[in-house]
Amino acid sequence: MSVYRPPRIDPSEITPEGVYLNRRDWMQGAAGLALASLLPAEAAATAPGITLPTFYKSRYSTAEDKNSYEQITSYNNFYEFGTDKGDPAENAHTLRPTPWSVEVGGEVAKPRRFDLDSLLKLAPLEERIYRLRCVEGWSMVIPWVGLPLAALLKQVEPTSRGKFVEFTTLQSPEQMPGQRTRVLDWPYVEGLRIDEAMHPLTILAVGLYGRPLPNQNGAPIRLVVPWKYGFKSIKSIVRIRLVEQQPTSSWTRSIPSEYGFYSNVNPEVDHPRWSQATERRIGEFSKRKTLMFNGYAEEVAAMYKGMDLRRYY
Ligand code: MTE
Repeated sequence: MSVYRPPRIDPSEITPEGVYLNRRDWMQGAAGLALASLLPAEAAATAPGITLPTFYKSRYSTAEDKNSYEQITSYNNFYEFGTDKGDPAENAHTLRPTPWSVEVGGEVAKPRRFDLDSLLKLAPLEERIYRLRCVEGWSMVIPWVGLPLAALLKQVEPTSRGKFVEFTTLQSPEQMPGQRTRVLDWPYVEGLRIDEAMHPLTILAVGLYGRPLPNQNGAPIRLVVPWKYGFKSIKSIVRIRLVEQQPTSSWTRSIPSEYGFYSNVNPEVDHPRWSQATERRIGEFSKRKTLMFNGYAEEVAAMYKGMDLRRYY
């Protein structure tokens, strides 16, 4: 079996701005020819069985410095491959991200199974540079490539009973050695309220740094909800269901007193065992203040108006 290991070069170090936007058109230009030898191989935008279509820069991106490809792909939480930060990069080569499909059903008028190719065609792909704040107190800035989750949900036409969305990761102890242990209840599950799921900031990510997602980051498709703690961003999704009752999530089920359904980044509500007021950006020494809703308050605060965020943590 051939094993995909992402290359260890940070393309931002060698790829000029704009190349991501329309690599093929750009490469046809004279400037492209002159620089071609400096660029990573065409394979940079592909993994076995996956080729990312052209994508566009999103207006929702932060202008902050990005973490490096190396940092983003070597410091991970993906308990299906071990509980240490380095385990996923080491062990996730056993995951087979192709062929892949996502079953979308529940309270919808048009349930459907999407294969990866049809998912990639649902909406123009965008590069979204988002802050990710982990509940453990660290953060990163990650250039995802993805599409709004709303584009997928609109295809299946949620009914009025579809008040929440439940997500499920692949269950395969053969591919995911961590599932042979009982560190969490498998498969990993997550949930969002329907308005959170339909929010334009909520994306399904299929790539980072212009390439298909490496296995350790949740290949081939994972959720990213930038105003919530990182654990809400469930990886390697195989099922999405619209449901009437609030679904549970793996961390809530595991330790309900510490991890709630909402899990919005909130510097004013401490985790029972540590403060959430500050965070350490990976690669930096000193701490910085954590921002309400991870800095996305202007876009999302209205969804929680009138809710007691200490109670609904
Ligand atoms: N998804 C699955 N299936 N299994 C996991 O263990 N860990 C979560 C989340 N998604 C996890 C998961 C946690 S705790 C975090 S902080 C983020 O993934 C980390 O995403 P990253 O490794 O891409 O930074």
